[in-house]
Amino acid sequence: MIYFDNAATSFFKPQEVKTAVVNAINKYTANPGRSGHNLSMQTAEKIFEVREKVKNFFNAENYDVIFTKNCTEALNLAIFGLLKPGDHVITTCYEHNSVLRPLENLKSNGVLVSTVFCDMIDLPSEIEKSINQNTKLIITTACSNVTGECPDIKTIGEIAKKHNVIYLVDGAQSSGHMEIDLTNMNIDMYAFAGHKGLLSITGVGGIVVKNGIELNPVLYGGTGTESEKLVQPNDIPEGLEAGTIPTIPIISLGAGIDFLSKNFLKIIKIEQNLTKYLINKAKNLKFLKIFSPNDAKNVFCFNVKDLDSSIIANILNEQFGICVRSGLHCAPLVHKKLGTLNMGAVRVSLDFFNTYEEIDKLICALIEIDKMS
Ligand code: ALA
Repeated sequence: MIYFDNAATSFFKPQEVKTAVVNAINKYTANPGRSGHNLSMQTAEKIFEVREKVKNFFNAENYDVIFTKNCTEALNLAIFGLLKPGDHVITTCYEHNSVLRPLENLKSNGVLVSTVFCDMIDLPSEIEKSINQNTKLIITTACSNVTGECPDIKTIGEIAKKHNVIYLVDGAQSSGHMEIDLTNMNIDMYAFAGHKGLLSITGVGGIVVKNGIELNPVLYGGTGTESEKLVQPNDIPEGLEAGTIPTIPIISLGAGIDFLSKNFLKIIKIEQNLTKYLINKAKNLKFLKIFSPNDAKNVFCFNVKDLDSSIIANILNEQFGICVRSGLHCAPLVHKKLGTLNMGAVRVSLDFFNTYEEIDKLICALIEIDKMS
């Protein structure tokens, strides 16, 4: 089996993450922040350590980390927690449904949404042109999950700061694959998934929020704090993390971050080289329609002639044992821009565990598929 679906979730987890999971099951299964006994306190300490690791990894000293079950929930918290009727928000055609659908929902609640449709390179100027006096929030991805193209988030961060607008970045695809420095990039809120580039097991994501930004909860319930009150407490992170948090996934996230931190620049370089190798090889296959740029991050998106992407993905799976994702990747506006709304596109997404041999096998498989079609 060759696994090229790392943008959906990373398949190969380092031994350190697996060991941390087993260790957490044995030692840290008590409920943190609820009871006063030693096991609960030890688990709470572990969770606190992981919050600090997340902050260090994204250079976010003056930020809070709120854990959620995935990146979608983190984006929902940021969007529904911040926006009120009359607010204006700017987003882009490169976003995932985890941004587009909450915004669509808020339109009926009096929130005004501008969606910028343009080439990636023009995003900063187009976003700036769309800012008005009611603009409260700008939302962009750090990397398209469809094409692997990355907007200039540093420049967008500067624009947001200049106009006193909050900048929310969807880091589902960038986390663990790119250097993200929230403080120096002027990013006010950053949503991440644990189970993709950060190499945790599924069940954890989070939002890193700059101090001073107030979010309303989207989930109400027990926090282990101010329990005598019937209103949701506004302490951070507890007030935004109602219910028992996913301790074992969170601890595995800490191990994933430790693993990445040891060799992060090396890991990024390996991934860049693998992606370049794949794109260069694929460019020789004239029957491919390629949608990813030369400098795409970890993702290569294409179609074989005008064939439906699901046909190609099925053949790759069934005849060659190669796992890729086809269809619209929950990002319909990117496909509208690419002209692939009908047939979708085939997406190969790499991680540093992949090899050049695996890429060669994919290229051979595509040549075989061309002969069959
Ligand atoms: N959003 C994930 C993907 O791009 C699941 O596949």
